[in-house]
Amino acid sequence: MRNGFSRITHRSKGLTVLKTVKRETRVMEIAYLDGKWMPIGNAKVSVFDRGFMFGDGVYEVVPFYNGFPIALGAHLRRLARSLDSISIDFPQVEKMVPDLLEEGIERSAEKNGLIYIQITRGIQFPRDHNYSNQLKPTFLITISKKGDLGCVKPVLSKVILRNDFRWGRADIKTTSLIANVMLRNDARAAGYDDAILLREGKVTEATAANVFVVKKGVIFTPKKSEFLLHGITRDLVIELCQNHELEIIEGEVTRAFLLDADEIWLSSSGNEIRPVAQIGDKFFGESAWNENSIWTKVYQLYVSEFYAH
Ligand SMILES: Cc1ncc(COP(=O)(O)O)c(C=O)c1O
Repeated sequence: MRNGFSRITHRSKGLTVLKTVKRETRVMEIAYLDGKWMPIGNAKVSVFDRGFMFGDGVYEVVPFYNGFPIALGAHLRRLARSLDSISIDFPQVEKMVPDLLEEGIERSAEKNGLIYIQITRGIQFPRDHNYSNQLKPTFLITISKKGDLGCVKPVLSKVILRNDFRWGRADIKTTSLIANVMLRNDARAAGYDDAILLREGKVTEATAANVFVVKKGVIFTPKKSEFLLHGITRDLVIELCQNHELEIIEGEVTRAFLLDADEIWLSSSGNEIRPVAQIGDKFFGESAWNENSIWTKVYQLYVSEFYAH
């Protein structure tokens, strides 16, 4: 790569073609904003964007491995549901996104990455809680690097329990995340990686992940409600378990049941399925994530389903 240009070789009709592209069209981390791709640092929005003023927007996070987005259809359905829940009218998004992502992944030159799609209600001045129905939504995609899936030792988490004081619509994937931010940073300040949240003595989720609990060979996860995000990874894990005759139950997970678990895992698009090594002052031994654990079985299924293309 020289003088801001890189040379990309590709094959076309049996001929090797050397194409010279500007470096900024093929950088690692890119953004799509106002109808254009750009280096991530060039993406800027107005201070009067309602996303900035009110957190008035929704988002999605989609991982891709070997260039293939995982469960894109499910992510787009959840995005449409989040938009609908907060009455942002942007019906074209489901049609636009697959082609844009294909182009973005190609431009970013990343093999494995994370795609963020963020849509806010748009720019409005003067600031007003009441929104106008004439606003043009701000539509942002960013693509950045992610590590390989399943190539390293398990990344273990240390978690603490916290009261889930978030609002009553945690099922909407909104950018208004201050309560999650407070809870995560409170856990970090106490020396932990994350917090598992309890509402009236029952587990909802972690600050940015769903929770699975294993007891005597059976897997449990809190059932869907408006108090937790309906995680796409959660759904994928449930489907994998069902397809491989692993018993899995969606129901209530109480504090006592959680603290008595044999294994606990956290699931999310960004961090896949991570075993918990410590919850409060309870330590799990290696049996919770060694080769005989249920976590290992499920994680291997996940890796072979989504990575071994
Ligand atoms: C609060 C919360 N719960 C659960 C999840 C997991 O959802 P998904 O598997 O769709 O990434 C996330 C992901 O960011 C989250 O923020």
